[in-house]
Amino acid sequence: MDTRKRKISILGSTGSIGTQALEVIEKLQDKFEIIALAGGNNSELLKQQAEKFQPKFICATCQPDDLKGKHNAKILQGSEGLEEICSNKENDIILVAVSGKIGLKPTLTAIKNGIDIALANKETLVMAGDIVMQKAKEASVNIIPVDSEHCAIHQCIKDISQVEKLIITASGGPFLRKSIDEMKNGTVTEALAHPRWNMGRKITVDSATLMNKGLEIIEAHHLFNMPYEKIEVVIHPQSIIHSAIEYVDGSVIAQIGLPSMHIPIQYAITYPERYEGIKSKSFSFSEIARLDFEEPNYEKFPTLKLAYQAGTEGGSATVCLNAANEEAVFAFLDNKIKLFDIYTITEKIMAQHNIIKSPSIDEIFAIDKEIRIKTQELIKQF
Ligand SMILES: NC(=O)c1ccc[n+]([C@@H]2O[C@H](COP(=O)([O-])OP(=O)(O)OC[C@H]3O[C@@H](n4cnc5c(N)ncnc54)[C@H](OP(=O)(O)O)[C@@H]3O)[C@@H](O)[C@H]2O)c1
Repeated sequence: MDTRKRKISILGSTGSIGTQALEVIEKLQDKFEIIALAGGNNSELLKQQAEKFQPKFICATCQPDDLKGKHNAKILQGSEGLEEICSNKENDIILVAVSGKIGLKPTLTAIKNGIDIALANKETLVMAGDIVMQKAKEASVNIIPVDSEHCAIHQCIKDISQVEKLIITASGGPFLRKSIDEMKNGTVTEALAHPRWNMGRKITVDSATLMNKGLEIIEAHHLFNMPYEKIEVVIHPQSIIHSAIEYVDGSVIAQIGLPSMHIPIQYAITYPERYEGIKSKSFSFSEIARLDFEEPNYEKFPTLKLAYQAGTEGGSATVCLNAANEEAVFAFLDNKIKLFDIYTITEKIMAQHNIIKSPSIDEIFAIDKEIRIKTQELIKQF
């Protein structure tokens, strides 16, 4: 057992994953030393976190003066600040929990510097999974997934060569029991009312359309080197089984637990050790009344099919999917389009995209930019 304090930085410490990670770390104070905390605009919360946890560095997109307070942290700014944090080899592990494409470059920098990654940010693998996993392999860097589904699979797999398929569970989101029409015209308030998980706004809307599950199959493909036809999605509204794998001999191993992001976050940042940490209560099968499973309804949730399509096409198709969907989600959150338009817009943009088979990182960012501009133009017509 490693008795040394693990040195950690958190990118996105002011977000849903970041704040829960700090709750885990507070419970395991003797196990961690925080090197850096980074947020975006929420300077007040970041300042409070700095005063409480006394990291060596803090970083945000706001003005440095807004972060001055009762702490001794050096104040860094913006994406250059994130690069500086991820170049600091003092870190044993970096939790990448920023939302959006901003996660990709710092992750690559950390990998280059041989620093292990606890990865929450989905866009990193959706945009550049081939490059990120290849670089991590070359640098012998561990990428430990934070997403509860991938964390579940990570815990179930012993030998990937003996795995027949991955079974990813989905709660189904707030529109699971609603009609197609109700889903198509779902309001922002309805889409943000997730029955199981309390998450950031973008991922919550993705959960309402099932695009989140689509992004997860792309992540799973890269993390576990599994072809798309061997990644299955099943709706499981209670979110007790977090995902499962089937071995070639028909044996199925599932990871089960109460629906709390604290558990996968703690697993990822303490891996391979396990501690009691933030566990709130012991799991009891007798308290679980029933577990239900059903096939996804692709007519109601066509974004899931779109993600399978983009993943199978590969190359820049998933960059296009990610950028178009994200712009459409922002437009929905701004009440500019209807919920189902997210799918219609993403599908249209994908149909126009000429796929580049193995794009470089620079090409990925150029495609991302181009797709966002095209999507914003298309949104104006809705
Ligand atoms: N929430 C979950 O349960 C969950 C589960 C699995 C995976 N994920 C993934 O984890 C990531 C984060 O999700 P979340 O739900 O925690 O999102 P969130 O609550 O919206 O938090 C996003 C974080 O990123 C920061 N951020 C945004 N733009 C930034 C920028 N330009 N520079 C630096 N920091 C920036 C935000 O800072 P400010 O708030 O200070 O602006 C905040 O700390 C996403 O990729 C999501 O898909 C989340």
